[in-house]
Amino acid sequence: MRHLIDIIDLSVEEINELITTAEDIIANPTKYAEVCHGKKLATLFFEPSTRTRLSFEAAMLDLGGRTLGFSDASTSSAAKGETVGDTVQVVSGYADIIAMRHPKEGAPYAATQVSSIPVINAGDGGHNHPTQTLTDLLTIHREFGHLDNLTIGFCGDLKFGRTVHSLVTALCRYENIKFIFISPPELKIPDYLKENVLDAQGKDYVEVESMEDAMPQLDILYMTRVQKERFFNEADYLRLRDTYILDPEKLSTAKPEMRVLHPLPRVNEITVDVDKDPRACYFRQAANGKFVRMALIMKLLEVHA
Ligand code: CP
Repeated sequence: MRHLIDIIDLSVEEINELITTAEDIIANPTKYAEVCHGKKLATLFFEPSTRTRLSFEAAMLDLGGRTLGFSDASTSSAAKGETVGDTVQVVSGYADIIAMRHPKEGAPYAATQVSSIPVINAGDGGHNHPTQTLTDLLTIHREFGHLDNLTIGFCGDLKFGRTVHSLVTALCRYENIKFIFISPPELKIPDYLKENVLDAQGKDYVEVESMEDAMPQLDILYMTRVQKERFFNEADYLRLRDTYILDPEKLSTAKPEMRVLHPLPRVNEITVDVDKDPRACYFRQAANGKFVRMALIMKLLEVHA
């Protein structure tokens, strides 16, 4: 039985296979319409979500399966003090696969220790978000046709942004990726990521504060929201939340073929008039999430078209 807790649980070959399957699902959806007939996905969301939960549910429905779960821990028995472990052991008896989001780093991993069915980490605190990474990689592949030889600027909250942590880890396994980390000093990428992932693999990266200076070099600008829910005090959040706001003027110095990604939700960091620029691909990115989650569910349930 396989789980997906961290993107490194998948080999590069497996990631590439998932992307190939997702692209085939996009091209031939009817081929996959019944492959999960009789299977159930449980979505256990202890933290808010729009894209991840609904795309998981849409993925299972489009595979011919069914879904159950909760989107608010206050409506589950967690509100009465039930542990994650007990919840997962119980749900293992009701479903075939679990997608879990939790504010505590490591909670989905803890779930794997007691689960008798596959567990997918749908985001754990400020740590990891591996299925967002699969979404991002599928998007990059669909936009560029390859996953190597790219300069990618990560901009905003690189400290708490779990999508950044997972995507950096994944991209380190592809050839000739240059990283430009754009953040205020308070929101720089964590030391563990620099030491254990980037430095350990001799990767090419710089840390800067100016989005404008970095812009002309980039193939991809990966914007992020400042993660209000991870701050310990409101004053710091208010001071930092609008550090970077991408607008058409700032985008004017970017390469014509650059792509703007954002895991969403956005707050203020991209103005809505950027949406009509063909380089803005965050809504295409959100749509891609369903297809790669379909591919992942099939892989973990070991079903085939
Ligand atoms: N990208 C992402 O995880 O969005 P949600 O929080 O809406 O699931």
